[in-house]
Amino acid sequence: MADSRIGMSIKGPDGQSYTLASFLGRGGFGEVFRAEDEANTTVAVKFVNSEFFQDDQILFALLNEAKAASRVTHENVLRVLHAGKSDDLGPYLITEFADSGTLADLISEQRKQGPMDIERTKNLMLQVALGCQAINNILIHRDLKPDNIFRHGSRLKIGDFGIAKLVDESTRTHTFKGIQHVRYKCPESWRFEMKTVKIDVYSAGLIFYEILSLKHPLQDAVRDPSDWRDCEQAHLTNIPSSLRKIRPEIGLTLAQLIDRMISKRPEDRPEWSEIIQRLNSTIDTVPPDPGIAAALAAAIKRKEERDKVAAKAEQRRLNLQMKDELYKTSCQQLLRQLGRSCGRIQRTVPGRSNRGDSEGERHDLSPCGTQPDQFVFLQFT
Ligand SMILES: Nc1ncnc2c1ncn2[C@@H]1O[C@H](COP(=O)(O)OP(=O)(O)OP(=O)(O)O)[C@@H](O)[C@H]1O
Ligand SMILES: [Mg+2]
Repeated sequence: MADSRIGMSIKGPDGQSYTLASFLGRGGFGEVFRAEDEANTTVAVKFVNSEFFQDDQILFALLNEAKAASRVTHENVLRVLHAGKSDDLGPYLITEFADSGTLADLISEQRKQGPMDIERTKNLMLQVALGCQAINNILIHRDLKPDNIFRHGSRLKIGDFGIAKLVDESTRTHTFKGIQHVRYKCPESWRFEMKTVKIDVYSAGLIFYEILSLKHPLQDAVRDPSDWRDCEQAHLTNIPSSLRKIRPEIGLTLAQLIDRMISKRPEDRPEWSEIIQRLNSTIDTVPPDPGIAAALAAAIKRKEERDKVAAKAEQRRLNLQMKDELYKTSCQQLLRQLGRSCGRIQRTVPGRSNRGDSEGERHDLSPCGTQPDQFVFLQFT
């Protein structure tokens, strides 16, 4: 199916023609091809799933969003070159082509070879932070994950931003693969709260932890990675073990920085300027002053305590929410069953009888309006 498009052409930003040369893969938003123009310039073309862009208004929003994305020009960001629509092939985005795979590939290679040295990982993290800062000056990425951080030569370049917002707004679902993959989704996104640039800081913090430890920080807390509810629970309530327990040679400043980036509360996460400044600093490479080390260790401990309290509160909120959902579902199921077997259900309000019988006053029952204290008074006619 994808192969039948090879050899076909689409129009570029200046009216030039790009010919589809090979199929690169399929993701949550669509299918990606490598393409070349007459001067052999290579680009990547993403054909966006038509299910998201059924009417012209949404297509217009896509073009607008791509326009915003094309304003992000930074060496650690893949340039968005053009958005258009082909009569035969549908809506598409043309971006710079990355020739050396992704950060996800690099992490899997390192899993076989052992962890990278700290200075090299700091350089990778710095590149990601600089790219994120440039993106966040204009928009929120919303789908930051190692598969969307590309390698081009020795440089990292962040890609795949611009579509997530539109799809996010049109689907609002946790299960859709494309938006903020559940492994990197921040607590406030799980709760459908307001989205700020801090959602990208959280995802980047998880990625930084993974680059350093070669392990996703919440991996041990998720029993079934294919179950998004397990992932939700872990992001909302689990506190990952300290990076320094996994790799004691990691400096305190770096460990504390990443710990703050993955804070459950967005306001506890640092700004990009601070992250960049700390990643640029060499303080962790010299033995820290014992006084500074003790102060940092105490600060980390205080934060761990705060996080534990917040996680417990979140767990209580989740339990209540689950109880509420269970209650509503079982009420509705029971009422449906009763309705099927008895035809009509009525509710009896105790103590309001004016007919002298023991049944009290009768009302038609709406399943959705049922309250826990009314449940015991269900009666048949
Ligand atoms: N600009 C690009 N340069 C080179 N390869 C790319 C580029 N964009 C995407 N790819 C590759 O194309 C394939 C499909 O990418 P796509 O972004 O659709 O999937 P994904 O990253 O798994 O999911 P998502 O839709 O969440 O981004 C992947 O193998 C990806 O590495
Ligand atoms: Mg992608």
